[in-house]
Amino acid sequence: MPHTNQQDHIDAMLHETRVIAPSEEFQARARVTREEYERRYRQSLEHPDEFWSEVAGELYWMKRWEQVLDWQEPHAQWFVGGQTNVAYNALDRNVQHGLGEKRAIVWEGEDGEVRTYTYAELLREVKKAANALLGLGVQPGDRVTLYMPLIPEAAVAMLACARIGAVHSVVFGGFSVSALSDRINDAQSKVLITADGGYRRGQPVPLKKNADEAAQKTPTLEKMLVVRRVGTPVDWQPERDVWWHEAVEAASGEHEAAPLDSEHPLFILYTSGSTGKPKGVQHTTGGYMVGTYLTTQAVFDLRDDDVYWCTADVGWVTGHSYSVYGPLLNGATVVMYEGAPNQPDWGRFWEIIQKHRVTILYTAPTAIRAFMQHGDEIPGRYDLSSLRLLGSVGEPINPEAWMWYWRVIGGGRCPVVDTWWQTETGSIMLTTLPGAFPSKPGSAGLPMYGVEPALMTHDGEELGADDGGLLVIKRPWPSMLRTVYGDDERYRKSYWGEIKGVYFAGDGARRDADGYYTIVGRVDDVLNVSGHRLGTMEIESALVAHPSVSEAAVVGKPDAVKGESVVAFVLVQDGYTVDPTELRAHVTREIGALARPDAIIVSDALPKTRSGKIMRRFLRQIAAGQEIQGDTSTLEDPGVLERLAATPPA
Ligand code: WTA
Repeated sequence: MPHTNQQDHIDAMLHETRVIAPSEEFQARARVTREEYERRYRQSLEHPDEFWSEVAGELYWMKRWEQVLDWQEPHAQWFVGGQTNVAYNALDRNVQHGLGEKRAIVWEGEDGEVRTYTYAELLREVKKAANALLGLGVQPGDRVTLYMPLIPEAAVAMLACARIGAVHSVVFGGFSVSALSDRINDAQSKVLITADGGYRRGQPVPLKKNADEAAQKTPTLEKMLVVRRVGTPVDWQPERDVWWHEAVEAASGEHEAAPLDSEHPLFILYTSGSTGKPKGVQHTTGGYMVGTYLTTQAVFDLRDDDVYWCTADVGWVTGHSYSVYGPLLNGATVVMYEGAPNQPDWGRFWEIIQKHRVTILYTAPTAIRAFMQHGDEIPGRYDLSSLRLLGSVGEPINPEAWMWYWRVIGGGRCPVVDTWWQTETGSIMLTTLPGAFPSKPGSAGLPMYGVEPALMTHDGEELGADDGGLLVIKRPWPSMLRTVYGDDERYRKSYWGEIKGVYFAGDGARRDADGYYTIVGRVDDVLNVSGHRLGTMEIESALVAHPSVSEAAVVGKPDAVKGESVVAFVLVQDGYTVDPTELRAHVTREIGALARPDAIIVSDALPKTRSGKIMRRFLRQIAAGQEIQGDTSTLEDPGVLERLAATPPA
């Protein structure tokens, strides 16, 4: 069993034996039956060219591919020689198929404002925004950074980039000025799309102000396109700044989607790894489109009359694949909500479901646990009878939270699909298709079409069922990342170089006799805080950038709501004292509030081996308040553990 950060979760999983079957009614109508899954899964592995050609053939290609896959490990090209456009498939194609008057986006602001776009209206907005971007000098292949609230313009901007072949890089609106400028600089973006602000817990978040500050350190940035969302006053640089509403309104509504090579880059999305700065995960056009199209349809059992709500912000991969691309490619009605789940109170999600008659809800375990903490009574006040399917993503879901979600939110009638995947995989990799298979609370389930998972040791030895091991994928799949932007070496090393010949996910997992995979957590120095990936290294670098800190070690501590919380052990720089409040504010400035340590332990030493390596295993135990277990004899000064354990966290 590899080490993971979530021992409690593993223990719970090991004792979990419940099996929840979908209702007869759900099964009878399910898009994918068990037989169908088994037949198509087999086909996808035995005749991948035939399988993927069938799926890709359901979408529109300006030029058909000549070869399904060209695999020169670790580099894959899918649908080689084909030309297509993701925005065309998400919009023009659906309008042509008669969905012009169907609602594409139903958006609700945190302040209660509601806006609806039909497919025809969304298409028109995207064409205008595409022309506006062209007018700002954006060329195919240019990078455009988005730093936006969750408003319809965010989806419009992404699709407009896709339409002209510009590469979007969405930076979550909760990230700090320096996180934003680092990402703009790494991508060398020419244009930044932002807003005057966005609402979060009743307050406007000053996005434009942050963007202005970031822009002082980003030499490649030429233009800033600004959506007016909250109406607060903003600083304005007339030669650089352009109002979205002026540029987009003035732009022509005529635009032909650019035919793009299947491997043309679609977007970059930064995510944390175990070492170094965040990686710009790069996805391309054809494979990502096919992967998100197929999985959204199959996993969410999508039908014409569904009202589908994925609560993820577009700043994360879930927001890319399952708030925007996947559902729109399938012509679904997508609900978007701008704000916090507890604004004005913990009933907000349920009110949205009741009001818009949401049928499919896809959210994260951290949110489910937070709702659960506030009791059954709040959701009980709302009519949730429109729901027919629930999904979970982002981190392992503990069986208790699963059962609560199923019982209280789903009324015991909605299947819950737990979906395992990553920024790098682009689309869902493991799940139990609803209607085809029973769920086992806490277990992600079976591989999606074309996904060939295995459990291995670090030496590449394959393990059998019930042995815990490292989760790997044994062959490329269409929506996989193609490289790390600007750092192909890091791509080779991190994914296909850890264990020879397979994709290394960085997660530990088990498999049971039915073939269900249970993810037990990261095996590297990546934390998962409220479903957000954070590298311990990133937080440590932020801490030591503060003058009062000479050295820092960050670990995760199990947290009942967030999954994990950040605990920082810091050594004080001579001549300084550490002010925990100031240090937390500093981390917020450097990365964002999501990385702020919950506990800070100030110390005179860290547990190091004689060769100077910090033994984080012991720090995790101290952070969790556990007895020290394991061999401490390799430590330079074993006494440090006792001193740390005796130091109250600040
Ligand atoms: C974790 C989010 C257990 C896992 C889509 C993975 C999960 C990381 C699940 C990717 C799940 C995601 N069960 N763990 N259903 N979904 N994870 O890149 O550790 O933000 O490696 O992508 O989240 O996080 P990322």
